[in-house]
Amino acid sequence: MTDDSDVTGTVGVDWDARAADFDEEPDHGLRDPRVREAWAGRLRSWLPERASDVLDLGCGTGSLSLLAAEQGHRVTGVDRSPAMVRLAREKLAGRDAVFLVGDAAAPPTGERRYDVVLVRHVLWTLPDPGRALRHWRGLLRPGGRLVLVEGVWGTVSPVGIPVDLLTALLAPLGGRTSVERLSDDAALWGRVVDDERYTVVAVPDRPGPSRE
Ligand SMILES: C[S@@+](CC[C@H](N)C(=O)[O-])C[C@H]1O[C@@H](n2cnc3c(N)ncnc32)[C@H](O)[C@@H]1O
Repeated sequence: MTDDSDVTGTVGVDWDARAADFDEEPDHGLRDPRVREAWAGRLRSWLPERASDVLDLGCGTGSLSLLAAEQGHRVTGVDRSPAMVRLAREKLAGRDAVFLVGDAAAPPTGERRYDVVLVRHVLWTLPDPGRALRHWRGLLRPGGRLVLVEGVWGTVSPVGIPVDLLTALLAPLGGRTSVERLSDDAALWGRVVDDERYTVVAVPDRPGPSRE
C-alpha cells in the first residue's frame, strides 16, 4: 500500500471499483433471506449477548455491521474504500452506527476501545497480519474479543489465510481461541463450497494499550 488514498491493497484489488456490485455475491449482500439468517445466527453466537461496541474493520458495504446493529450493538465501521463506506452509510442510515474511511491495520478511532473487533475477509489482504492482530488487541476493552472470519478461497490459485497460520499468529497474544469451521454450511455461502472457510473467536489475555 502506498498512502491513504490508495484503495488497491496488497492483493491488487481495486475495492472502490468493486463496491457497486459487491453485494451481488450471496454472502456479501445477504439479500437471500436464508443466507442472511445463517449469518445472523452465527454472528449472534460470536458476539456478546449484551449490547456492545463493535468495530467492523474492512466493513465493505456494511452487511455484517447491519446484522450487528439489528442485534442491538453499537457499530463503528472502517474501510479504506470511500465507495464502500458510502454504501455502508446508506445501508445503516438511521442506525446506531458510524463509518470512517481509514486503514483497518491502524483504524482512525483514537482512544476509543471496543468489546469486539469484527473482521470478515480482510486480514488476508493486509501486508502484515500479525502486526494488525497485535494492534487490534490494543483496541479491545479488558475481556474483549476478536471475531475473525477468514478462509482460503479457490482451489486452483488459492488466496487467503489458512486457519493454522491465523491461530499461530494469535498464539503470542495469549488467552483463549476457538475455531468454527464454516465450509460445510452451504446456507452461509448460498451454495456448496469445498475450500477452507472458518471463524476464529479470540479473547486475548493481555488486552491493553497498543504498542504498535
Ligand atoms: C472482501 S471485502 C469484505 C467486506 C466486509 N468485511 C464483508 O465481509 O462483507 C474486503 C474489504 O476490505 C477493505 N480493505 C482492504 N484492505 C483494507 C485496509 N487496509 N484497510 C481498510 N479496509 C481495507 C476493502 O475496501 C473491502 O471493502
